[in-house]
Amino acid sequence: MVVPALGMRLFFALNLPEAVRAEAATFQSRARTLLRGSWPPPANLHLTLAFLGEQPEDRLPVLRAVGGDVAAGHGAFELRTAGLGGFPRPSHARVLWLGLEAEPSLVALAGRLRKALGEVGIAVDAKPYAPHLTLARFAAPVDITACGAGPRPQAFTVDRLVLYRSHLGAQGARYEALGEFVL
Ligand code: 2AM
Repeated sequence: MVVPALGMRLFFALNLPEAVRAEAATFQSRARTLLRGSWPPPANLHLTLAFLGEQPEDRLPVLRAVGGDVAAGHGAFELRTAGLGGFPRPSHARVLWLGLEAEPSLVALAGRLRKALGEVGIAVDAKPYAPHLTLARFAAPVDITACGAGPRPQAFTVDRLVLYRSHLGAQGARYEALGEFVL
């Protein structure tokens, strides 16, 4: 009998410096007095490059190899936070996010990672890559202008790619780093 490998909910993301988390937290504590929603803790803030969904545990070595190879072929780079946005639309948002300034290095890294995952047979979301940092989720859509001014724009350096496991729970998601790869 073949015992199926246990699944893990995985994604590759970039970690963010404390200063970006702190600025986001300041914004969240102000905005949550204005809008009812779910406000993920600042420790959970991350920039997803590729969401892999449920993957069998025995794929971890391949995924770590992909992470290492892709990171090794790409240098560290600067990013800058931008304005607030909303999915599916700013006027009717279920997700409130913080955007990033258009950054060719970020798009190139996400593209290389997705291509490398495809080469080992792991399909990622076919939707175009939309870099964002999720700040809140709403059960009923809101107009994001109701949140007031967004966090102050901040420049920061990205120097590692992280493979995360997402543990879903009643208290929200908890993310566990399963691999860190220096850019
Ligand atoms: P989100 O912040 O917009 O929810 C872990 O769930 C990470 O993967 C989050 O950053 C999430 O984006 C992202 N992600 C991308 N596609 C996803 C999907 N189909 N389901 C859940 N999370 C997804």
